[in-house]
Amino acid sequence: MNKLVKRPRRLRTTSAIRDLVAENSISANDFITPLFVLEGEGKIKEIASMPGYWKKSLDLTVEDVKKLWDMGLKSVLLFVQVDDSLKDNAGTEAVNPKGLMQKAVRGIKAEVPEMHVMTDVALDPYSSFGHDGIVEDGKIINDATVEVLAEMALSHARAGADMVAPSDMMDGRIAAIRKRLDEQGLIDTGIMSYSAKYASSFYGPFRDALDSAPGFGDKKTYQMNPANATEGVKEAMLDIEEGADMVMVKPGLPYLDIVHRVKQVSVVPVSIYQVSGEYAMIKAAAEKGWIDEEKAIMESLLSCKRAGADLIATYFSRDAVRILEKK
Ligand code: PBG
Repeated sequence: MNKLVKRPRRLRTTSAIRDLVAENSISANDFITPLFVLEGEGKIKEIASMPGYWKKSLDLTVEDVKKLWDMGLKSVLLFVQVDDSLKDNAGTEAVNPKGLMQKAVRGIKAEVPEMHVMTDVALDPYSSFGHDGIVEDGKIINDATVEVLAEMALSHARAGADMVAPSDMMDGRIAAIRKRLDEQGLIDTGIMSYSAKYASSFYGPFRDALDSAPGFGDKKTYQMNPANATEGVKEAMLDIEEGADMVMVKPGLPYLDIVHRVKQVSVVPVSIYQVSGEYAMIKAAAEKGWIDEEKAIMESLLSCKRAGADLIATYFSRDAVRILEKK
């Protein structure tokens, strides 16, 4: 008589039973697609450190957004690259109603009104110092920055953004943005807060793409210390109290424990951002033939879901949908 009675492998014997007992799955509904918008027309530039990913002028971005919608992808997260001549230490261009971000939102909503359009709210692409806030005496000043961020969010909302996504990590910005939007009657514009955003080395390719690396120092006085987990929960809870409609943890794979902990206490959807460096790592290893690209993409995305993410911002959204369709 065989004494072994517990045989978990029974639920792994066939592909059918494996599918039937799968605890998590991914679909096009899980994704937020980041897009990089350039000034001009007919412009397209591959991002050197993100092979297979491009920055495009608005006309071409709109074409892409149509394709994304047709693929079942329902949300885009916009970033813009502004000319160095427009950068200063006050976020002047960030709040310009005719600025590139504002134009991009209007252009996309005019052509694909159903698409859920989110905008990055932070000063770094507009900052002569490459920092997410206003700089005084080598320091990033919280409260003055928050005022500009609220104006910036308002201008995105006026352009038609469905949600604004503050990625700056200043204290109190969610409450300030919510108040500013509500005062102006923009009660339906949502806020997805980058709540637990870490001072990470994995943003490198993104900063190359937007030419937004900090000009001095680093971002450790506002982005979080990778050593901390409880603090990530605190940041998420504060943002929820301040009125965030969704919270986000960033980066992705190295911070799945934070996603899990935030999800345990969050009463709003939790997103995760699989960032540029994570994309680059998978691409580079796949190019070398060291890992199977498609399998690595799907496994990394599924891991985000398993950790508790409701939504995933990822440069792999299109690849994932194509891979899912093949199955
Ligand atoms: C801007 C911002 C950054 C990212 C998203 N918004 C860069 C940074 O904080 O330095 C990184 C995204 C990525 O690496 O994919 N505040």
